[in-house]
Amino acid sequence: MIYAFLNQKGGVGKTTLSIHTAAELARRKRRVLLIDADPQGSALAWSNCRDQPAFTVVGMPKATLHQEIELMVGDYDDVVIDGPPRVAGVARSIILAADIVVIPIQPSPMDVWAAAETIDLVRDAQVYKPNLKCVLTINRKIASTAIGRDVRKALIELETPVLNTDVGQRVAFAESAAIGSTVLDLGRNKARKEIEKLVNELRRQF
Ligand SMILES: Nc1ncnc2c1ncn2[C@@H]1O[C@H](COP(=O)(O)OP(=O)(O)OP(=O)(O)O)[C@@H](O)[C@H]1O
Ligand SMILES: [Mg+2]
Repeated sequence: MIYAFLNQKGGVGKTTLSIHTAAELARRKRRVLLIDADPQGSALAWSNCRDQPAFTVVGMPKATLHQEIELMVGDYDDVVIDGPPRVAGVARSIILAADIVVIPIQPSPMDVWAAAETIDLVRDAQVYKPNLKCVLTINRKIASTAIGRDVRKALIELETPVLNTDVGQRVAFAESAAIGSTVLDLGRNKARKEIEKLVNELRRQF
């Protein structure tokens, strides 16, 4: 399967969720390729701090990604694409390559509006690719806040399925990333449980 984490808005968690999805799939003994399609190269930088890579990471911030990926997918069970913010040409190419587009959003009105732009790009592609799936996933949820509780209502207008799994605001994500690691390496913790649940739910989409 080709999972693409995409949102035109910056800082919503595309890289964090891409890395964690790839790491969790690899932990389940799947052969995983993580494509960093962001010219900022954050996922590549993360993998460069890592001693023993559990999966391959390549940089491919190009609008020809959907063509180049065809030559690589045969060697892997799963491909995860970490999308860039803004660059629409690359985003279109990622959408063409993907089996499922996962749009991370934070519980804020600005994020709901920004997600609509990305959803529009996906809808354009679905005309030619009717099997292309698209889901929203809530990231950095702060449990005790009203906006955290109400965000699902605000998302109804986007007419796009929202995953049941919420990923909370947890320092473990930033702390583990800083050392080229993931929350999966920290023993049992809430962040890890959320990632396991997220990956289970993503795999159930097919
Ligand atoms: N669930 C979370 N809890 C705490 N911190 C998080 C969480 N998700 C992401 N972050 C932090 O938020 C920041 C932005 O996340 P990330 O880099 O994954 O977003 P992005 O969408 O890839 O950004 P960009 O658009 O710049 O590529 C990072 O510092 C990351 O560690
Ligand atoms: Mg990123």
